[in-house]
Amino acid sequence: MKERIEKITEELNALKCKTEKEVEDARVRLLGKKGEITQLFDEFRTIAPELKREFGQKLNVLKKDAMAKIEELKAAAAASGASAGSGEDTTMPGEPHQLGSRHPVSIAREQIVNIFRKFGYDVAEGPEIEDDYHVFEALNFPPNHPARDMQDTFFVSNGHLNPLLLRTHTSSVQVRTMEKSQLPIRVVCPGRVFRNEAISARAHCIFHQVEGLYIDENVTFADLKQAILLFAREMFGPETEIRMRPSYFPFTEPSAEVDVSCNICHGKGCNICKGTGWLEILGCGMVDPNVLEASGIDSKKYSGFAFGMGVERIAMLKWQVNDLRHYFENDMRFLREFSTCVDV
Ligand code: PHE
Repeated sequence: MKERIEKITEELNALKCKTEKEVEDARVRLLGKKGEITQLFDEFRTIAPELKREFGQKLNVLKKDAMAKIEELKAAAAASGASAGSGEDTTMPGEPHQLGSRHPVSIAREQIVNIFRKFGYDVAEGPEIEDDYHVFEALNFPPNHPARDMQDTFFVSNGHLNPLLLRTHTSSVQVRTMEKSQLPIRVVCPGRVFRNEAISARAHCIFHQVEGLYIDENVTFADLKQAILLFAREMFGPETEIRMRPSYFPFTEPSAEVDVSCNICHGKGCNICKGTGWLEILGCGMVDPNVLEASGIDSKKYSGFAFGMGVERIAMLKWQVNDLRHYFENDMRFLREFSTCVDV
C-alpha cells in the first residue's frame, strides 16, 4: 500500500491537463467510484489494525491533495478554454448595435396627437381595464345594447352591476374627463383598446385609438366639420377633401362617418379606395345631451362634439399598408421602412 500511495502522489505532482475534459478524466481515474484512491480506501478497511493509523493519515492527505489539484487544473483549463478554446479572437472590435426606430403605430399616434395639440387640445389618458359604467352606461348605451355583449367585449369580472372589462374604445377617458374637468373641455385621448374580434387584414383584437372631445357654449356641427377638415389636411396633405355620411353612435346625435379623398388616386378611383375615390377615417358627432347630463354638465348651456379614429387605420391609409397585421408582427423588414419618418 505504501508504494502505491507514493506512486499516486508522484503521478499527482506530475499531472498536467489542457482541457476540462482531461481534468474530468483524471478525476474519475483517481477519485471516481472505482478510482485508484477510492480503491485504496476500500482496501484500507482490511489491513492490520496496527497499520491503520499510519496509512489512514497518509490516505487522507493523498485524497485532499488530489482534490485540490483537480480543482486547480479545472480552473486553469476553464480559463484558457474561454479564450483559446472557443476559437474567438477577443481582440476583434465588437459588433455595432443597430439603431432602432419608433414603431409606425407610435409615429402615427404622435402625429395625430400633435395636430390636435396645435389646435389647442390637451391630452388625457385613462385605464385600459375599465368598468361598464365608463365604457357603456355613461355613454348612453341602452342596458341590452349588443356592443356590451360577450361577442365584442372582453370581460375581466362578471356577474355584478358594474363589471370590469377591457375598454372597447377610449370614449371612457372622455367620460372621466367630463367628470373631473372644468368647462370648456378640449381634449384628445390616445390609447389601446380591445375588442373580441377575429384577426384579419382589417381587424385585430387589440388596436389603438385617438378620440377627441370639445365642449363649450355654442359648439355646433360646423365647428366639428371644420376641426375634422383641418385635421385631415394636416394629416393627408393640403388638397385633401372630406365628406360626411350619416351614421349612428349611442353617444352622439347627430352622428357621422367621415371619409377623406383618396390620397393615392386623388378621387379618380383606385384599388386602395376600391374605385370610390374616398377612404373612411373616423366616426364623430354632436355629444348626446344624455351623455353631458350623465357627467353633470348642463346640456341647455353647453354643447360639444366628439370624434374617434383608429390609429392603425390612419397609418394604413397614410403609408398604404394593405394588411393591419403587419403592425403587430414586428417584422424588422417592415419596421425599418419607417425609420426615417418624423413627427409633424
Ligand atoms: N367610440 C367610437 C368607436 O370606438 C368612435 C366615436 C367617438 C364615434 C366619438 C363618435 C364620436 O367606434
